[in-house]
Amino acid sequence: MTTENAMPIAKAATEPGLPKYLVVYRRIRSAIDDGQLRPGDRVPSVRALAAELNLARGTVETAYELLISEGYLTARGQAGTVIALDLPVTAAPSPPTESAASSEQDQPLPLQMGLPALDAFPRKLWSRLITQRARQTDIAGLGFSDPRGYAPLRSAIATYLGLYRGVQCTPDQVFVCTGYNAVLELVCESLEMTGQDCWFEDPGYVHARQILLNRGVELVPVPVDADGLRVEHGIRLNPTARLAVVSPAHQSPLGVALSPERRRELLDWAQGQSSWVLEDDYDSEFRYRGRPLPALKSQDVHDRVLYAGTFSKMLFPGLRLAYLVVPRERVGRFEQVVRLWRNRCPELLQATVSDFLSQGHFTRHLKKMRQLYSARRALLVRALEEVGGGVLKVDPQAGGINLLVRVLIEVTDTRIAEQAWAAGLSVQPLSRWQLASGEEGGLLMSFTNVVSAEQAAEVAGRLLGAIMAARSTDQDKA
Ligand SMILES: Cc1ncc(COP(=O)(O)O)c(C=O)c1O
Repeated sequence: MTTENAMPIAKAATEPGLPKYLVVYRRIRSAIDDGQLRPGDRVPSVRALAAELNLARGTVETAYELLISEGYLTARGQAGTVIALDLPVTAAPSPPTESAASSEQDQPLPLQMGLPALDAFPRKLWSRLITQRARQTDIAGLGFSDPRGYAPLRSAIATYLGLYRGVQCTPDQVFVCTGYNAVLELVCESLEMTGQDCWFEDPGYVHARQILLNRGVELVPVPVDADGLRVEHGIRLNPTARLAVVSPAHQSPLGVALSPERRRELLDWAQGQSSWVLEDDYDSEFRYRGRPLPALKSQDVHDRVLYAGTFSKMLFPGLRLAYLVVPRERVGRFEQVVRLWRNRCPELLQATVSDFLSQGHFTRHLKKMRQLYSARRALLVRALEEVGGGVLKVDPQAGGINLLVRVLIEVTDTRIAEQAWAAGLSVQPLSRWQLASGEEGGLLMSFTNVVSAEQAAEVAGRLLGAIMAARSTDQDKA
């Protein structure tokens, strides 16, 4: 079916606090979800819809690009743009994102992203620490907790960051949040980001993208190459953006590091424009070649960088504990916001993590995990190269807990992810992490829970089977 169904979209207008492209995006998404627009239906051309709604063409283009990158629309050149035949959520069950996948499974799936080695977490030690803490609960511990986070934990984080990441900050600058998503919410609220422009790495972390979009932030996709974010490109696209969200140590998902020149350019830009940079330092502790890279924040003499870290990779994601270091001049504003919100992290968990850090368990655990990950990474890379020789190529990455695997034969990465999911494997298609960039496809996966050479070989074989099945489906549909 190729009829053009403009009716549900034509209702799009402006909505207070929402950027216009997001209004168009949401209207089309809900028309698809409600079945008003069906696979194969043609949507109006960018020009026609822009004229109809009295919007700039770029606004409609941005909405369409986002829908294409998420798999809802397919661009067919001269034949126009249509609702995708394989809708990501409604028609074909697509693999859930990493956090959804983990919450729906009893056990982590092999290759599932976003998880540390769950089998290697010292659960006995953790139980002992949490029990001790629970026993010590006094009357004061029953009241409201500090909205910025448990004070001894904020001190322990400041000490850790000074020693291991070169980030000099005082505990007053540290805010404990329920995961990186809460960090993003806090940053958006405190910097009043709704309707404001924000550079966003392309490809970039899908969850962060979604949270920023939901907050009404105007994302400016800035491409990434082997040296990380292309700062000069960002300046050309949008020199006055209020914020840039970056992952300098291991770009998520490509795994490249932001080069020293680009770091300077980025910090100079932020200083010159009085803009902010949010550094997502989510897994820089894990590096297998060369020395750990310094945090961008450690080079931030003008205090323009907000630094975010998480305990999800270093301990476990079920904790939902992350932290944000705020530039000195902004601490008051962030405090205002959290006083209204209150702190949402259970104090018992914060206190237990604080003990874990201050008693030295944390650095010991990290050291062990670095060795373990280096070995597990090697197991999976070897198996993928042996089983998938000629079909699979692992991107060289110096650190992190994920692999980016390129597929050397003609087949769409979203289809592979669907087939892999059906075969009990959790891999993410790189194309879903892209906004506007024309990066070739690829498969994102983690090696942290691959425990033996036998398992690695079995999983690699299953993945290859999924790739071949996806290729057959691609060919049938062509
Ligand atoms: C790029 C990136 N940043 C941050 C995080 C941390 O997220 P959270 O603290 O919400 O678990 C993740 C987790 O997967 C990530 O991949």
